Amino acid sequence: DRATLVDPFGRRIDYVRLSITDRCDLRCVYCMPERQQFLPRAQLLTLEEIARLGRCFSELGVSRLRITGGEPLMRRNALWLFEQLGALPGVNDLTLTTNASQLARLAPALVGAGVHRVNISLDTLRPARFRALTRRGELAPTLAGVEAALAAGFRRVSLNSVILRGRNDDEVCDLVAFAIERGLDIRFIEEMPLGTITGHDRAALHYPSEAIRADLARHHELIPSTAHEGGPARYFIIPGTATRVGFISPHSHNFCADCNRVRVTTEGRLLLCLGQEHSVDLRRVLRAHPDDDQPVRRAIVAAMALKPRGHDFSLVAPPHIRRHMNHTGG
Ligand code: GTP
Ligand code: 5AD
Ligand code: SF4
Repeated sequence: DRATLVDPFGRRIDYVRLSITDRCDLRCVYCMPERQQFLPRAQLLTLEEIARLGRCFSELGVSRLRITGGEPLMRRNALWLFEQLGALPGVNDLTLTTNASQLARLAPALVGAGVHRVNISLDTLRPARFRALTRRGELAPTLAGVEAALAAGFRRVSLNSVILRGRNDDEVCDLVAFAIERGLDIRFIEEMPLGTITGHDRAALHYPSEAIRADLARHHELIPSTAHEGGPARYFIIPGTATRVGFISPHSHNFCADCNRVRVTTEGRLLLCLGQEHSVDLRRVLRAHPDDDQPVRRAIVAAMALKPRGHDFSLVAPPHIRRHMNHTGG
C-alpha cells in the first residue's frame, strides 16, 4: 500500500499544486502589482526538479497534481514536464490552471501529454474591460483558447472568474450564459488578499459570493450539488444544462476544515497553507541530495506537522502575506 500524508488535524493530503513560473503575459489587477520584478532563473526550480517532486509526492499517496503559475504555459518546455507527470502511475488527476492565451496552440499537445482538466481564468467577455482588468491583455486569444480546450478532449474545462465590485459584477449572468452555451463549469471567486497592490482597494472591491448567487437565482434554478470533490468550491447544478456553478468564498465560507492540499512555490518552498507562511525549503533538500529521493520524501512527510488550521484573511487589515498570487498560483 502507498504511504499517505496526514496533517495534525487529521486532514488527508492527496492534492498538490505546483507553481512552475512567476511570469505571466497578463497583469491581472488582483494578482500582482503593475510593475513586478520577476525572479532570477537560478532561484526557480528546474523542470527536472519539479518532475522529481511530482514523483516524490506520488510515492507518498498524492494522486492529484495541479500545475499553476504565473502562467504555466510561459515556462519553456512546459510540455516536457506534463509528459513526465502524466506518466506517473499514481497520478489520476493531472490538471492545469491557465489564462488560456496560448491554449489555441497547445491544447491538443496537453491532452496528449496526459492533462485531464483545465481551469481557465476569464473575468469578462468585454474586450475593453479585459484590457483594463489584465492591464495589458487582449480578449481574443483567451476566447480562442477556450474553444481550443473544448475541442481538444479534456475530461473537463472550467472557468474561473474573480468578481470585483464595480468592475465586473454586472457580468455574472453573461459569464454563466457563456458557460451554459459551451457546457463549461464556472466558479466565482472572492478575491484573496495576497501582497500589497498599490491603488487596489480590496475592501471596496469585495463582492460576496452570496450577492452573486442571489443575482443568478433571479434567472436560474440553482440546486446545491451533493458531490464532494474536496476542493474549495461549493457547487450548484443548473437543471437542464451541463453547467455547474461553483463559489470559492474564502471570506464568506471558509473551506479550510476540508483542506486536502499543499502547494509548492516557483522557488521550491513547500507552503502548507495559501494564507499562511508555514513552509519548508524543498529546493535545498533537492539540491543537497541530487540522486536520492528519500530525504526529499522525508522532508515532505515532516512538513505535514506544520500545516496550520487555516487562513485568517481579513478584508480590512493590511495583507499579512507579502507574496503575490503569481508566486503560488493559488
Ligand atoms: P479544482 O481541482 O478544479 O477544484 O481546482 P481549484 O479550484 O482548486 O484550483 P484553481 O487553480 O482553479 O483555483 C481556483 C481558486 O481557488 C483560486 O483563486 C485559488 O487561489 C483558490 N484556491 C485553491 N486552493 C486553495 C486553498 O487551498 N486555499 C485558498 N484559500 N484558496 C485556494
Ligand atoms: N484572489 C483570488 N483569486 C485569484 N487569482 C489570482 N489572484 C487572485 C486573488 N488575489 C485567481 C486567478 C486564477 C486562479 C489561479 O486564481 O484568476 O483563476
Ligand atoms: Fe497572469 Fe493568472 Fe495572475 Fe492574471 S491571475 S496576471 S493570468 S497569473
